[in-house]
Amino acid sequence: MTRTSRIPGFYKVTVPERRAMVSDATGADVGDLARSLDGGGLDTETADKFVENVLGTYAMPYGVALNVRVNGKDFVVPMVVEEPSVVAAASNAARMVRAGGGFTAEIDDPLMISQIQLVHVPDVARATEAILGAREEILERADAAVPGLVARGGGARDLEVRTLDHDMIVVHVVVDCRDAMGANLVNSVAEGVADRLAELAKGEVGLRILSNLSDRRCVRVSCRVPADVLATDTLPGDRVIDGIVNASRFAELDPYRAATHNKGIMNGVDAVVIATGNDWRAIEAGAHAYAARDGRYAPLATWRKDGDALVGRIAMPMALGTVGGTLRVHRAARLSLRMLGVSSAGELAAIAASVGLASNLAAVRALATDGIQRGHMALHARSVALAAGARPEHVDRVAAMIVEARDITVDAARRAMATLEASASAAAE
Ligand code: MEV
Repeated sequence: MTRTSRIPGFYKVTVPERRAMVSDATGADVGDLARSLDGGGLDTETADKFVENVLGTYAMPYGVALNVRVNGKDFVVPMVVEEPSVVAAASNAARMVRAGGGFTAEIDDPLMISQIQLVHVPDVARATEAILGAREEILERADAAVPGLVARGGGARDLEVRTLDHDMIVVHVVVDCRDAMGANLVNSVAEGVADRLAELAKGEVGLRILSNLSDRRCVRVSCRVPADVLATDTLPGDRVIDGIVNASRFAELDPYRAATHNKGIMNGVDAVVIATGNDWRAIEAGAHAYAARDGRYAPLATWRKDGDALVGRIAMPMALGTVGGTLRVHRAARLSLRMLGVSSAGELAAIAASVGLASNLAAVRALATDGIQRGHMALHARSVALAAGARPEHVDRVAAMIVEARDITVDAARRAMATLEASASAAAE
């Protein structure tokens, strides 16, 4: 079937209706959606096998970003996030990007770095020479530590030595992890080669662990957004482009702004990473280390004007897996991967970065035009209405009333509920 991520009117219908629409759009089975998502996708018994001292589970909202098209393919993208407006904003921005042909992604091979620290090295130059001279032997030992990966077409690819101090070096074994995130594989490699490396260096083994600065496993995504789709009620498209380019330059020039700019990107990236059962701390660590790779913290995504269009680019490490990992036992994470129908971990990485770029576009467009609070507050008001105990059928009305009153508080929501109930009972009399 042809998958589509364009589902008009999606946000207006009920949850069961949305599940039916997603099933039509992606081929996911409605029963499967219910079984995988009801109860948050994880029962206490299974959770007790994941981590220690379990008391229960902790649920988060599971939504989908619509309109996402990456390298000519449509994806309905699962997002797990607690912040109102993140899913809507990513979907809106993806619709604008779609008008310019969607996202174009380039993905590196899935190469992870295994770090072996060697200490008390008497002569770092000699040690480096000895290790590089034994390259083939070390790569063979590395492969022997991960035979399953080698059978799947992955394995050790390269060896590098970096001097860190007069008596300390670090050896990098670069490992192709195929569709696994690779942390366990790369750690096994580190432990498998460390003793021989120490022997060659005449030093001692220090740490043996992966690097989360997975800069050999980057994804680069670009998009081209026509000016007219960026226009707001009050500003023409070219003025909006101007504002977005200035927002980008602000982040390029100021680390204080770059941190917030990147936070907006990670709103989208993390939500996809969590929904697919991946390690979001690893992605966060890699993203921020990469952002600071030139010695100055920089934005992961930038925006420029090109003719009458806005062009956006993002580049960041993206160590994601579609196989292995304990979270893949999670019913909802497994559903996410089925719903996306990705062919590889690289394709998943391209989708996560595209949603990151969409989230960034939505944020900088809002900031450069109406300001973030207008849209944010409208959605925040729904959470407040829920927190005040509004009945599901009243949530939107109560939210609209407290936004109009410019008093988005639980007390105001309770007053709005009382007004609604009073007018409902007056109408019934
Ligand atoms: C809020 O979660 C994210 C933003 O602050 C991002 C940004 O400022 O670009 C709106």
